Amino acid sequence: MKAADIRRKYIDFFVSKGHREIKSASLIPENDPTCLFTTAGMHPLVPYLQGAPHPAGKRLTDFQKCVRTGDIDEVGDPVHLTFFEMLGNWSLGDYFKEDAIRFSFEFLTGKDYLNIPLEKLAVTVFAGDENAPFDDFAFNLWHQLGLPEERIARLGKKDNWWGPAGQTGPCGPDTEMFYWTGPDPIPEVFDPKDKRWVEIWNDVFMQYNKTAEGRFEPLAQKNVDTGMGLERVTAILQGKGSCYETEIFAPLFAALDAVRGIAAPEKRTASERIIADHLRAATFILADGITPGKVDQPYVLRRLIRRAIREGRKLGIEGAFIGKVAGAVIGQLGDVYPELVQNQDKILAEMAKEEHQFAQTVEKGTKEFEKLIERVPAHITRKIISGKNAFNLYETYGFPIELTVEMAREKGFEVDMEGFDAAFRKHQEMSRAGAEQKFKGGLADASEATAKLHSATHLLQAALRKVLGDHVEQRGSNITAERLRFDFCHGAKMTPEELKKTEDLVNEAIGRKLPIVCTETTVEEAKKAGAMHVFENKYGDVVKMYTMGDVSCEICGGPHASNTGDLGHFRIVKEESSSSGVRRIKAVLE
Ligand code: ALA
Repeated sequence: MKAADIRRKYIDFFVSKGHREIKSASLIPENDPTCLFTTAGMHPLVPYLQGAPHPAGKRLTDFQKCVRTGDIDEVGDPVHLTFFEMLGNWSLGDYFKEDAIRFSFEFLTGKDYLNIPLEKLAVTVFAGDENAPFDDFAFNLWHQLGLPEERIARLGKKDNWWGPAGQTGPCGPDTEMFYWTGPDPIPEVFDPKDKRWVEIWNDVFMQYNKTAEGRFEPLAQKNVDTGMGLERVTAILQGKGSCYETEIFAPLFAALDAVRGIAAPEKRTASERIIADHLRAATFILADGITPGKVDQPYVLRRLIRRAIREGRKLGIEGAFIGKVAGAVIGQLGDVYPELVQNQDKILAEMAKEEHQFAQTVEKGTKEFEKLIERVPAHITRKIISGKNAFNLYETYGFPIELTVEMAREKGFEVDMEGFDAAFRKHQEMSRAGAEQKFKGGLADASEATAKLHSATHLLQAALRKVLGDHVEQRGSNITAERLRFDFCHGAKMTPEELKKTEDLVNEAIGRKLPIVCTETTVEEAKKAGAMHVFENKYGDVVKMYTMGDVSCEICGGPHASNTGDLGHFRIVKEESSSSGVRRIKAVLE
């Protein structure tokens, strides 16, 4: 079965069980500033798992594009992928364990679906701990469905608990399904440590919310969240040892072979796999509006592209090539993810630009490297490039450490890797501190223009609630120094009159020159004061509450202007649909 068939069958199956198909959300989380990328199908659904009504109902299904960068250094081995598609189905306070497990069982074993023989299946269930009891319900149901007790393993939190996707949020015990990929005879007793049993699906019973303090609080509703990695299940069902051997990667490798002018080799090397994986991820990240840069998602994107280029050099590719592989990604998945086609020109232009810039970086870095070497007197026998210098090459010139080590070796130098790692860790801690700031709601960019747009966003939310009603709530926000983008729940396109009224209200508040007052307080106090807030669990003990006269009061990390009178003239540039039941406004200050 091909990946495309599995994707379609999955959605059709869950639609036939009363689920509504929803669209894959962006790879860039809208509602979770604690995470750089969407890491699971449930990730964009966090507000709904926490109780907000989803406009498409209580039973949902989709295929969601995901990026997990935790494993980035393992890419190249047969199993790890940076980018993958996750099939999922959700119950938002509707069905729970019984139906979730029955649906999974039917889809896995049903003739019209995956048609997996029962004897090739095994499952794990949660063994129980201080947060939640042993899942005897799941155990008994799997047994009743035909799995022998020896094929049902009980595991603890490390293995059978999923979430949250970021640092806080919905999570719970899970039951995971495994497929036997080894030869006959299949062992009667399931040993989850035996790598020939491969996990293919995960049903999470999301009934807890992990708070910023690490507490597990019961959620208002009991949800089901499931996830099946499409690439992995495709490989398994095709009897392939690796996702990279399936049709999913074939066009990408073909593009690479064409660049190299070679016929398809029997086996793919780690370099080839890294190139295919990283450029697939990079293509999708570019399609979602990120361009290479120095921090956050732009930095990950840059790292993916540059590592792919370096691996290309190892294969002997001299010139530009990454656009060819990106083109293959677009060709293959463009009909499933139209944003690839819509942004094709931009994706390819950015790839070419980065490839060019990287070539320049390597050139400049090489010059700096040579200067370093020249400074060392010839009579010194043990020649070392200090960790600080190696890190400086990396940080200032973007010169990859592997290149430094390689070139140092050629010149009879060693690199102080311990020193490099220490400098690197220090740098990471600083970036992490930046990320934590984000966690508190403050964005990294605290420029004056951005601060003003943050304040304007509060005025906009207040105005929208006046014009459209109190159902308006923030669903996402993204602010750059140039513009604000604000997503909010509202069921209909806004009329020109409503837009005009909203603009007028914001400009009126600006005209009143209201002081913007920041008070540090607790979430409880802020709520008592009527402050608007996005998701409670995101905030720490002490929060900042920004008040703008009688117009707006919101919990927010800032940054903000100090008086609405400083904002200038507010203009809505665009109002459009963001997703079902969610509208998006882009606006500027002039
Ligand atoms: N959210 C769960 C996972 O990613 C289903 O495995």
